[in-house]
Amino acid sequence: MKKLFLLLTGLLVISILQSCYKDIGPVEPEGEVPDNGISFGRDIQPIFDQNCINCHPSSGNLDLRAGNAYNNLVNVDASGYSGKLVVPNDPDNSILYKKIDGSNAYGSNMPLGGSLSATQINMIKQWITEGAQNN
Ligand code: HEC
Repeated sequence: MKKLFLLLTGLLVISILQSCYKDIGPVEPEGEVPDNGISFGRDIQPIFDQNCINCHPSSGNLDLRAGNAYNNLVNVDASGYSGKLVVPNDPDNSILYKKIDGSNAYGSNMPLGGSLSATQINMIKQWITEGAQNN
């Protein structure tokens, strides 16, 4: 009987310790963006390369391939909606951002059939907030 009690107490202690380990969580908080500035070439174009260019040499009349994406986005009118795709310093009026932020404010969320991570969404927002530079 005493052995059983010790065994059960031991199991309880182990399970409490395990639940503490789970609480530690990842070191990098989800959604964090680099605080030393966003670079279009280093941070943004790779998001397009991995998630968008399957469809966006042509879908929505929008070519997001390297070398074309920047000039097709910044201060350019959307083809399917009324407004600019990217308004520098103003993500909330940039259709590119509203198409990925889950708001469905302009038709389907992009990437169609998938989604970006919180970090990727925040990087695009931060790039626009920092002036949507071609850097
Ligand atoms: C599976 C195909 C597919 C993928 C992947 C995809 N798109 Fe699209 N996209 C479309 C289609 C189809 C349209 C046109 C219909 C619409 O506006 O929702 C479109 C439209 C858009 C528009 C509006 C263009 C305009 O001028 O009206 C934007 C902005 C856009 N996509 C951004 C993106 C971004 C950014 C990604 C990657 C994160 C992405 N898309 C991934 C299919 C796709």
